[in-house]
Amino acid sequence: MSDTAPRPETAENQIKQSCELLLHSTAGILGTVEGADALAISDGKVLSAGLGSTLRAQYRAIEEVDGKGLLGLPGFVDGHTHPAFAVGRAQEFDWRAEGLEYLEIAARGGGIHSSVRAVREASEEQLTAQVAAHFRRMQRHGTTACEAKSGYGLSLEDESKSLRAIHAAADATGMRVRATCLAAHMVPQEFQEDPSYYLEILCNEILPSICQQGLAEAVDVFIERGAFDLEAGRRYLEAAQELGLGLRVHADQFHSFGAVELAVELSAESVDHLEVLSDSGLEALALSRKTHAGLLPAVPHFLRQQANAPARRLLAAGVPYFIATDFNPGSCYTPSLPEVAHFARIRLNLSAAEALHGVTHGAATSLGWGEQKGRLDPGFDADFVLCELPDEAHFGYGFGENPVRRVFVGGKELS
Ligand code: NIG
Ligand code: FE
Repeated sequence: MSDTAPRPETAENQIKQSCELLLHSTAGILGTVEGADALAISDGKVLSAGLGSTLRAQYRAIEEVDGKGLLGLPGFVDGHTHPAFAVGRAQEFDWRAEGLEYLEIAARGGGIHSSVRAVREASEEQLTAQVAAHFRRMQRHGTTACEAKSGYGLSLEDESKSLRAIHAAADATGMRVRATCLAAHMVPQEFQEDPSYYLEILCNEILPSICQQGLAEAVDVFIERGAFDLEAGRRYLEAAQELGLGLRVHADQFHSFGAVELAVELSAESVDHLEVLSDSGLEALALSRKTHAGLLPAVPHFLRQQANAPARRLLAAGVPYFIATDFNPGSCYTPSLPEVAHFARIRLNLSAAEALHGVTHGAATSLGWGEQKGRLDPGFDADFVLCELPDEAHFGYGFGENPVRRVFVGGKELS
């Protein structure tokens, strides 16, 4: 039919917009459209959210998906993960049961150092396969996008290998990734006698090369006793900033000595952990409005730590935040954001809606995806999960059971 041919204007044949996918009959779509139970999708984006009957009248869909009464949520965004490890560290779990602390295990050459040895021994193909396996586990629990750190290589060669493995695993699995270079995770064992020499290598060789290769968009540093002090952290973060990289910081996990204040001063994207956040750190964050608090509530559980990040005070102060797994072999071995949301509700006293924000739009915003991910509103990426939950209030209520039944990225279902 030519464009100018008259079209019959009957009710049945009225001109409908076409869409690639129409999701209907869900228990509800969490978004800004009140009462929506359907989504129209094209080109990987949400065209419209609304009632199924309304969208059916408006769109002719190439494909339909029956939501079968499942709850439609934005795909989860994990704002803090360490997936570039080659083997787990189950042995340490026994040591911890015997009373050894996290930093004591690291000081004995266990902890992060043992993961570094394993990553250096792994080939790039082996590491890529491991990262892809980690991403698939995350996807099965509803994570469609994540921040992914290196940090178990601690040399230019092994950090580059880790970041390439992250990108290759993202391509292989469909995980949407923002890569972070965490070459300042620990001073590697070969430089223990001369940490300042490693700092120079970080600033003069590793960061410029990672940047020039386009392997990461941000950096991270573990500012903690036994890792990097404040002065070293500043030098590294300033070097990264000069290169145009975003800044993320592991801060105030066990000891508080100014890491949060430094990160805020440098306009970091996020400060993560915060179990021992000081009053001055909280004040700095409250004034920042840019630096997100990265809340990782399953970590103190895993480390048998009593302290929790002061989430209620952070939220009351209007600090932007996200909730993440911190998925890694040593301090939090879970790929599941729904499980972590349960910890957020129990240990951080967050509501279901607050927890859900933390694993969706809060995390997306901290990663620069605030206009694309974490919401099912028109124009946003059609990344969504169908969960066996009656309503939003059940999010993070149960634990030990994965509520995610189907996962879609850019409107395409992951198999
Ligand atoms: O975020 N705290 C430092 N880094 C990780 C743990 C890494 C590991 O133990 O392998 C964390 O908890
Ligand atoms: Fe971490």
